[in-house]
Amino acid sequence: MCGIVAATARREVSEILLEGLRRLEYRGYDSAGIALIDAEQSLKLHKEMGKVSVLEAAQQQQPVTGRIGIAHTRWATHGVPSAVNAHPHLSRERLAIVHNGIIENHQALRDELIAQGYEFLSETDTEVIVHLLHRAVGTGAGLFEAMRSVVARLQGAYAIAAIDRENPEQVVAAREGSPLVVGVGIGENFLASDQMALRQVTDRFVFLDEGDVVCISPDTISVVDAEGVKQQRQTTRISGALESVELGEFEHYMLKEIHEQPRALAQTFAVAEGHRVDDSLFGEGAGAIFDQVSSVQIVACGTSYHAGLVARYWLEDLAGIPCEVEIASEFRYRRRAQHPGTLLVTVSQSGETADTLAALRDATDPAFVGSLVIANVDNSSLVRESDLMFLTQAGTEIGVASTKAFTTQLVAFLMLTIALGRRGTMDSAKSDELVNVLHDLPGLVEQTLQLDAGIKRMAESFIQKHHALFLGRGVHYPIAMEGALKLKEISYIHAEAYAAGELKHGPLALVDDDMPVVAVAPGDELMEKLRSNLEEVRSRGGELYVFADRAADFQDSPRVHVLPMPSCPDVLAPVTYTVALQLLSYHVAVQKGTDVDKPRNLAKSVTVE
Ligand code: G6P
Repeated sequence: MCGIVAATARREVSEILLEGLRRLEYRGYDSAGIALIDAEQSLKLHKEMGKVSVLEAAQQQQPVTGRIGIAHTRWATHGVPSAVNAHPHLSRERLAIVHNGIIENHQALRDELIAQGYEFLSETDTEVIVHLLHRAVGTGAGLFEAMRSVVARLQGAYAIAAIDRENPEQVVAAREGSPLVVGVGIGENFLASDQMALRQVTDRFVFLDEGDVVCISPDTISVVDAEGVKQQRQTTRISGALESVELGEFEHYMLKEIHEQPRALAQTFAVAEGHRVDDSLFGEGAGAIFDQVSSVQIVACGTSYHAGLVARYWLEDLAGIPCEVEIASEFRYRRRAQHPGTLLVTVSQSGETADTLAALRDATDPAFVGSLVIANVDNSSLVRESDLMFLTQAGTEIGVASTKAFTTQLVAFLMLTIALGRRGTMDSAKSDELVNVLHDLPGLVEQTLQLDAGIKRMAESFIQKHHALFLGRGVHYPIAMEGALKLKEISYIHAEAYAAGELKHGPLALVDDDMPVVAVAPGDELMEKLRSNLEEVRSRGGELYVFADRAADFQDSPRVHVLPMPSCPDVLAPVTYTVALQLLSYHVAVQKGTDVDKPRNLAKSVTVE
């Protein structure tokens, strides 16, 4: 989704801004722009539709330079993707701003500003902010004060950064509902919507709180909170080498990330030293909170929601703990009746998803004994605002379609199941067994990756199709959902998942030779029932693609294509089958020629509602 980068320094910053945008590219966007105050103290900008590389080409042809500037990648919400709607937006050649989020009361503000003679060039909600800022500095307010008065008028979510050619050292910014971080340099300072954009120039960051307004110059950082009180926010050093985000030998990030799973999974459960899942893995005070837990409420979006659905089977079956799972955008807007003693568990790769964050903030009912987030990004908003956290060790995920983040979330949930299960129905022998089998997981995923050639051949049958049905039973029903989501996200084939037992209650009517049916068929206790469901498809002329345990005796036959999967413990099968389905979607998308890593209309981190 939209990305912000800003810099104020004693050196030329256009390349720093562009490099920041390149690092945010993976989030998904449709246009990009950059504005700097040049040596003559005038605002110079480029705005281009399409990729950052188009912006770079414009910059090469006609360089805009300066020691202070702002830059942006836009994911359209209000107004079509176009160069005019791209940020930065200007007001009367004096001020320029970039904005992430949505201003809900923009129409009323626009009417007010038009009545006062402001001319609007774009269809965006953002443009009202820059004109409001212009009006405020026109009354004699400094840029910082002006920003404070402007944000008081805004309803909605925003991260904003602004520059003023009358004040060529300061970038002023504000956040409410969208992430923003200050990058601390020596004789230079920066701002970005994600620290990753600035790792080339600093490893020290100030994470801003909701409602903060900040002013940076090359030597100073001043923050005031929502009440206007001056604050000294803590500086955090992000340790560890800057992770490589290069493609290396792979053609796409998605493929690279699929192949990184054995290592990511191993690193995620490596925290369970000595084969023990300690409460402290979930943060300080976890034991005391877990002792009060009698039920779990999981809230998430997209792929993370599917991880929650898998966890429900585990928490109820293995730990004997009642569990509800809900999509965050639904959870946050309904009146709920919550069981007392509920642990709220949010799941989010980015830790910034707007609906999930809002759900956490909304869960103030005393029935909740605490909140735990399973996230992949340290210092993200969900991590900072939850009582407890478990950080998955997936590493940076660039592909919009989540792969390694999902499977590491499953490992995190298995560890949570063990920690809570100890207090429920799980004896120590079972808990030891679960921790032990986790050690087999990387090897099993390696074996699954070796099935690539067979899966690629299978994918050829899908490229001419417009629809596909995914079937699974039990814990593999959410895996079928995840398989269907992957296929629709990156290949644009309409795909739906059904619990196989529901087949005859509707979707069977759709089955014909134009509707491939993908089945997840591990050798668990529901195998025989699934076999009957698949027979129902076959006898109606359907074409079946069965991912089956190699020991389960599924045979290739006319209209039945079997992909034999490595046999594995029941509890690990959701991971291995997911990996196989990821490869299926990947190959279908590549063969169809879609933009695998940045599918149309989608964003990696959804920071607006
Ligand atoms: C977007 C991404 C999905 C992701 C979902 C939730 O839709 O495209 O891949 O699953 O957001 O994101 P989160 O960061 O909260 O896991």
